[in-house]
Parts: sequence; structure tokens; C-alpha cells
Amino acid sequence: MRILGIETSCDETSAAIVEGTGDDVVQRSLVILSQDVHRVFGGVVPEIASRAHLSAIVPVVEGALRDADTSLGGVDAVAVTNAPGLVGALLVGVSYAKALAFAAGKPLVGVHHMEGHLFATSLEHADAVPPFTALLVSGGHTLIVDCEAWGEYRVLGSTRDDAAGEAFDKVAKLLGLPYPGGRHIERLAADGDPTRFRFTRPMLRRNQTPADDDYFDVSFSGLKTALLLAVRESVNLERDRADLARGFQDALVETLAEKTARAARLYHRDRVVLGGGVACNAALVQAVRARLEATGGRVFAPTPRLATDNAAMIARAGLFHAERGERAGWDLNAFATMPLPGLRP
Ligand code: KG4
Ligand code: ZN
Repeated sequence: MRILGIETSCDETSAAIVEGTGDDVVQRSLVILSQDVHRVFGGVVPEIASRAHLSAIVPVVEGALRDADTSLGGVDAVAVTNAPGLVGALLVGVSYAKALAFAAGKPLVGVHHMEGHLFATSLEHADAVPPFTALLVSGGHTLIVDCEAWGEYRVLGSTRDDAAGEAFDKVAKLLGLPYPGGRHIERLAADGDPTRFRFTRPMLRRNQTPADDDYFDVSFSGLKTALLLAVRESVNLERDRADLARGFQDALVETLAEKTARAARLYHRDRVVLGGGVACNAALVQAVRARLEATGGRVFAPTPRLATDNAAMIARAGLFHAERGERAGWDLNAFATMPLPGLRP
């Protein structure tokens, strides 16, 4: 099967072609156009994102088809992110995908953006397939998921407030760094002294048990406030900036790594798959590795291109659903929020 994937849920206009069957799937092309315009506003402006998708979608899709040496006639289905995300942004991809599929007489498949992130790493690592524990950390979501098989998910933990990427971006702003701030914090933290600022690890206590409802959940708003207070108290922010970044990153990373390791342990998974933009963070990947590899587990992290929003992961998840004969109707709609499909109790 050859699938055209389209992703417009936030501030990346992306299209890709993947091809294969079962878990034997390769990426034929991937075009990602990142909307830089939001930088000046310090965050994504939804209306501007929709307009930018509108002007980019046609050349981006044409580019993906051309790079894969194919045409619309040569694909077996069109897969598109229809939730969750910015509704106006999603609508551009959904409307365009519908029009393409209808005009070419191809099936249409709607894909949940976070299910796309679950599939992304498998395009780069053949063993990043179920059963596994997943840590999905992006600007909008933080999920710890047990994945028994493709299409069978159990959400074990999530954030009670800010997503991990959102926490990085907000703390970056406090430290006077550009948006999006995750990679700037990571770079600063590398030179920071880990002993100067030690922040409380959120929702992480030694005596927690799986029966506690915060055993897997995370929360970053308290950590953000602690950072804010430390910034206010600093008499020389220039001097303290790297140490503060380090203190923040260490607290966040240790929390996520420990919660992920708990999930893998409880469900006896020896594979852990990371996904989402924050999975670009080498300190996070290293911390998860250190915990899992100590007990013989393996950790798979995507390269930055597939960690951040992209259409290859949407095409890959779409291929799975298309193979199962799932089709979206022409009334497929965009939704700001939606639970992952295939949820197990
Ligand atoms: O998955 P993604 O591209 O978009 C969403 O679906 O939200 O994730 C973007 C997030 C931003 O918050 C950004 O600051 C964060 O990923 N990010 C990082 C790093 N690179 C990107 N966070 C920490 N360390 C990084 N190296
Ligand atoms: Zn995403």
C-alpha cells in the first residue's frame, strides 16, 4: 500500500508518502514547512497558522508526491490528521485531503495526531513496534501509554496541567530565551551546574504505589512557579541562567523518566518508544535509557525530524487503519480534542 499523509494540526504544514505492508513500511518522501511567523508573537497564533497552511498546502503535497516519484493516481489512500489540534489549522488539511481523495477516487482515512506520534519511531527503528511503553511529550500533550498492539492503547498517565513542551517553552520565556524554547533550555542546561538549584520533582514520591492516582501522572505548573520565584530572587540572572535551566530540566527529566520506567515495569514491557518534540531532548532520552537499559530494556527515540510534527507518522498510522479497511466518510470533521482511538480500560 502507498499512502499520502497530510498534517496541519499546529504550525507545520507537512505531507509525506509511505509504502509497505504490516510493519514493513518505508518512508518515500517527507516535506515539512515550519511556520516561522509565530516566533515574533512568542507562541502559535491560530488564525495566522490557518492562513499559512492555506498558502502552503498545495506546494507541500505536490512536493511530497514529486519526491516519491509518484502522483495522486499512484497512491492507495489519503490519510489526514483530523484531531486533536487547532481546529482552523486542522480544517485546511482535512478539507484539502477530502477534495484530493474525492477527485481521485481514493479512500480517505482520518488519523489522530497522537497516534501518529506513536507510529513515528517505527519508521526509523524496525523494533519500535508493539508491545511497548510509550512516552509522548510534545507542546500540547504529555502521555504515558501502554501499547499492547497497534490500535490497542491504555493511557496510564498524563499531565494534570502544562504539557512537557509547554513547560519548556514557558520557562524559556522566564529566562528570556526565544520561542520555542525547548532546545535553547537544553543547550543552556548543558553548561549549567546541577547542584545550585534543586527543584522538587513533581508528583514523584518514593512511597507511591500503582494504586495512587498520581503514580503515572505528571504536573509541571508547580515546577514552573518554583522557577519563576527563583528568577525573581536572582540578583544576577545572566550568571544564574544556565544553572536555572539545568535545575528545571533535571527535575522534569527525572520525573518523566521515572514514570515511564514505572509503566514499563508494571506492564512487563522491555521496549520503550519516545515521541513528540520534547523527545529531541538528549538528556531526557539518556535518562530513560539509563533506567531501562539497567534492566535489559531497549529505548527507541526518533530523530528530530520525526519527533516533531510531520506527515510521515500520519501516513504510517493511516496505512495501519487503511489495511484494516477503515475509511472516513466525506463528512470527516476536525476536532480540537479527541481521545486516542482503540483505548482499553
Ligand atoms: O511535537 P511538537 O513538534 O509539536 C506539538 O505537537 O506540540 O513539539 C514541540 C515542542 C515545543 O514545546 C518545543 O519547545 C519542544 O517540543 N522541544 C524541545 C526540544 N526540541 C523541541 N523540548 C526540550 N528539548 C528539546 N531539545
Ligand atoms: Zn505533535
